[in-house]
Amino acid sequence: MAAYAAGSRPPWDSGIVPPEVRALVEGPEPLPPGRALDVGCGTGVSAVYLARHGWQVTGVEWIAAALDRARERARGAGLKEPAIRFVQGDVTRDDWLADMLPVALWLDIGCLHGLSAEGQAIYAAHAARLVEPGGALRLYAWRRHQRDGQAIGLDSEHLEALFGPYFSLADVLLSDDRAGDHVRPTAWYWLRRLQHTP
Ligand SMILES: C[S@@+](CC[C@H](N)C(=O)[O-])C[C@H]1O[C@@H](n2cnc3c(N)ncnc32)[C@H](O)[C@@H]1O
Repeated sequence: MAAYAAGSRPPWDSGIVPPEVRALVEGPEPLPPGRALDVGCGTGVSAVYLARHGWQVTGVEWIAAALDRARERARGAGLKEPAIRFVQGDVTRDDWLADMLPVALWLDIGCLHGLSAEGQAIYAAHAARLVEPGGALRLYAWRRHQRDGQAIGLDSEHLEALFGPYFSLADVLLSDDRAGDHVRPTAWYWLRRLQHTP
């Protein structure tokens, strides 16, 4: 992907851990550390943050150049397996799932909303399989809006259709993504894994 080409940095790769991710760890009701998946982890900013706070993290990403930077970031933080590892894979396929253990936290910052409808359905099936009952799926995504005459992004109804009956939508925090003159409506979604098994 050109965004991660040598010498360039994609606009989302600010190096800053989102406050919503910090809140999971350092907020008033922190999640107890466990296994986490960072899906579409990019250069590993949040994955490394979680691992530094006691989580056992797997970052999944399909762009090798992003993973090189993620591994470098982890090395720089003095982290190695089993605290953190990065796996190259397409989250809409099965090949990266082979040795995945169930996780308490599935984190997705900006991956799901870019997938095709078919890819989203496969992704949701993977999440149902891998997030343990009671576990959390925390998702940052564009909300449904028009761009260049096309509807893009997700909304709560869409997520409920996609993830039901395995998850319930526990919370939505509306936000906006401002890049230059562009403002995109976004949201943080919290889906909780139910007991029901696929
Ligand atoms: C908006 S970026 C966010 C990256 C990272 N989560 C962050 O917060 O910096 C979305 C990421 O998802 C990755 N991605 C998109 N589709 C993917 C797929 N099918 N499989 C694996 N990674 C994917 C992209 O390569 C990109 O790194």
